[in-house]
Amino acid sequence: MAFVEDHARRSPTDVFRLPWGTWCVRDTDLALKVLRDPLFNSGMSGFFGDMLPTREAQIGLGHAVRTTVRAYLPAYREAMTRAVAELPAVTPWPRTGLALVHRATADLLLRPGASPALRQLQARSVEAGMMRSPHLRHRARAEMLRSKRIAAATHHVAERRAEGIPTGAPRDVLDAILGACPEGVADQRAANLYLLLYRSIVSTVGYAVAWAVLQAGLHHPPGSPWPWPADQITREAARHRPVVWMVGRPVPRPATYGGIAFQPGTILSVSPYLLHHDRHHWDNPHRFRPERWAEPGEHGPYLPFSAGPFTCAGAAVAHTLITETVAALTAGSHLSVNGATMRPIVTDSAVPGPFELQRASAR
Ligand code: HEM
Repeated sequence: MAFVEDHARRSPTDVFRLPWGTWCVRDTDLALKVLRDPLFNSGMSGFFGDMLPTREAQIGLGHAVRTTVRAYLPAYREAMTRAVAELPAVTPWPRTGLALVHRATADLLLRPGASPALRQLQARSVEAGMMRSPHLRHRARAEMLRSKRIAAATHHVAERRAEGIPTGAPRDVLDAILGACPEGVADQRAANLYLLLYRSIVSTVGYAVAWAVLQAGLHHPPGSPWPWPADQITREAARHRPVVWMVGRPVPRPATYGGIAFQPGTILSVSPYLLHHDRHHWDNPHRFRPERWAEPGEHGPYLPFSAGPFTCAGAAVAHTLITETVAALTAGSHLSVNGATMRPIVTDSAVPGPFELQRASAR
């Protein structure tokens, strides 16, 4: 992430221009102010874009999915324990992180017996890594797979709507989405909303688990079990290497930030990565130190899930999913990593490059 830090360092102003033309707030206090500014937040959420007609509909759908995921947490813990027990001693990452989360959330995302075709395409997209590849050839293949997933999901949405969505507790995330969609949201749009939330749950959580495993593996004393509770590992990993390293949206009305006047439509961003590494707010920010979360006193700004009115609706459940996965992996095991580097692969997310995880019984 050195290039963002370089740009920020070299900028004479509190807001700087990124090479691809969007703007980023450098100063931490100003960044937090922007994220909470009613003017900056008077539009719609960038996460949903124009997929839903109103902000109320965005909030309602986020809450419905979050409630459904939360109700599933005990089942997730059991499914994750089973999935981890079946892992071989050496596993390839970050692929295994995604596969574990996918397996433990399969019945939450699509109820058992529903659309085998869609289930199979989802499994293929998980195997392919679910993120925007920096390589054109991979991107073309991913696009083809994405078109097939949209078609299969749209078909399944139409089937469910024809059957009627049950009024009781949703059977899966798709029921939650269809129950929360306002009238008039077409089948294909509902399918895209489903794929968006699918990605947040499997891919974003899976990569966050991979960062946690990699960093704890690189920084613990050799030969000993990891000395930190899973919760501290999860928090510190998301501070040091936030998967969502930049949050931005179009400025909705003319506004001035850091002395620069912005016209509506200009993309203005805040970087959780930069804020998490601000020396004025964090002690030794470039060191991975999970124990800092047990120390008394204030922490610096922490926004792996953004902040302000557009904060991730699933932040608390996502944190639990990651922590449960790290806990299942570390229980009764010595873990070490090979071939790892802290250098992220950066596209719309920042994810770890390939490494191996070795698990040996601690008993
Ligand atoms: C490690 C996992 C996750 C991370 C790092 C993450 C991060 C984020 C961030 C940074 C945003 C704000 C985007 C913006 O302002 O442009 C966001 C929005 C959102 N996230 Fe997550 N997310 C994660 C998992 C989840 C999960 C599991 C769910 C569902 C239960 C979820 C549901 C949402 C929703 C609905 C929004 C839109 C909120 C709104 O605008 O009302 N996320 N997420």
